[in-house]
Amino acid sequence: MALLTLEPFSDYFDTDAEAPAVDPAQTYKLSRFAYLHQDGDDTLIECPKSYARLVVQAPQAAAAFGVVGKGCTAEELAEAVDGLTLEGATEILGALLHAGMAEAVDADGNTPESQDQVLRSWEFHDLLFHARTRDGRHNYPAGGTYRFMTEFESPPPVKAVAFEETIPLFRPDLDEIIAHDPTLTEVQEARQSVRHYDREKPITLDQLGEFLYRVARIVDFWQLPLRRQGVTKRMTVAQRPYPSGGALYEQEFYVVVNQCDGLESGLYHYDPERHQLGRCCGRTEEVETLIARMAWASNTTPETRQVGIILTARFQRFAWKYASIAYALMLKHAGVVYQTMYLVATAMNLAPSGIGNGNSEVFARAAGTNYYEETSIGEFMLGSKLPPEQMYSLR
Ligand SMILES: Cc1cc2nc3c(=O)[nH]c(=O)nc-3n(C[C@H](O)[C@H](O)[C@H](O)COP(=O)(O)O)c2cc1C
Repeated sequence: MALLTLEPFSDYFDTDAEAPAVDPAQTYKLSRFAYLHQDGDDTLIECPKSYARLVVQAPQAAAAFGVVGKGCTAEELAEAVDGLTLEGATEILGALLHAGMAEAVDADGNTPESQDQVLRSWEFHDLLFHARTRDGRHNYPAGGTYRFMTEFESPPPVKAVAFEETIPLFRPDLDEIIAHDPTLTEVQEARQSVRHYDREKPITLDQLGEFLYRVARIVDFWQLPLRRQGVTKRMTVAQRPYPSGGALYEQEFYVVVNQCDGLESGLYHYDPERHQLGRCCGRTEEVETLIARMAWASNTTPETRQVGIILTARFQRFAWKYASIAYALMLKHAGVVYQTMYLVATAMNLAPSGIGNGNSEVFARAAGTNYYEETSIGEFMLGSKLPPEQMYSLR
């Protein structure tokens, strides 16, 4: 029986080409992109550079993974793995070469991969994420497959959560806004990231209310009938001012407050249906960390921060429908929301700035969410603008 089997999954894998011969004197090394993982009952070796995967059929093949990772000849591999013959070691190296997951090491200890300037810029997780969330480098189901439809109900479009303390928010008159707002082009041309605020006149609770109303409120709900594998269900979807794949709107908005006129410092959840805030907690250690993290990312100090908008995703809401691309789409949604927030803040003469990273572990602890169910995927800072003569930005 074979120690491992090669499973091509792409038309670009040349099945007619001969498997590369293994030179007994040659040292071979595994690609740093190759990985071994469990998929149901199968142990697989996969690699985002490859058009084929390897299915492990014997424990020696899995043990060999760790040895080829350091670089070895067929003889060294056979010596290092209990119960592996030279013939078996040659078979494993041959399969890794054939799948494009291992390469010959030159006299200086380099492989073509380690010398490739373009590939060097790719980190393992980024290339895997790219290859696995786009078509072309895998044959797993992808797209709106409704993969959990027959197993459980879709999580609701609005997070079901009750808070002891809720704060109703100001609802702006949209006709008034339409009559007085700057034009889209004026807003686009004026938009910039502003990280310094007017501490004498901080952002107000009403401004925060108008901002959230214009960015994130739920405008409408409706039901989509679904029929898959003989099962009929209805899924509630929504409409908000920004677009979202499948109208699913898996995102939640939280507001971390350091300084806001009319709102105590702490962490709040935005209810987009009732347009109100629910108070998650006051100024806990985790909330301090979230504020400090925003200050660090913007090269400012925590006491100067006003408001942070933290975007989370309720992962199951989205992964219920989409296979392979779910997380990638959630990040695209974060980008959609960032731009919407930039434009609305600019139209309102507020100071907006995106933030490139945040601490999802600390957020989950601060808000009391299950990390795997809902945690932060994006952060954005908001505050009051300084008078024009004192304003400065990176531009
Ligand atoms: C996704 C994203 C992440 C960003 N991350 C940060 C950040 O971590 N810290 C920061 O000070 N600015 C951040 N910014 C703001 C950019 O630095 C800013 O957009 C860029 O310098 C261009 O300047 P402008 O927005 O004023 O046109 C981010 C912007 C975006 C869209």
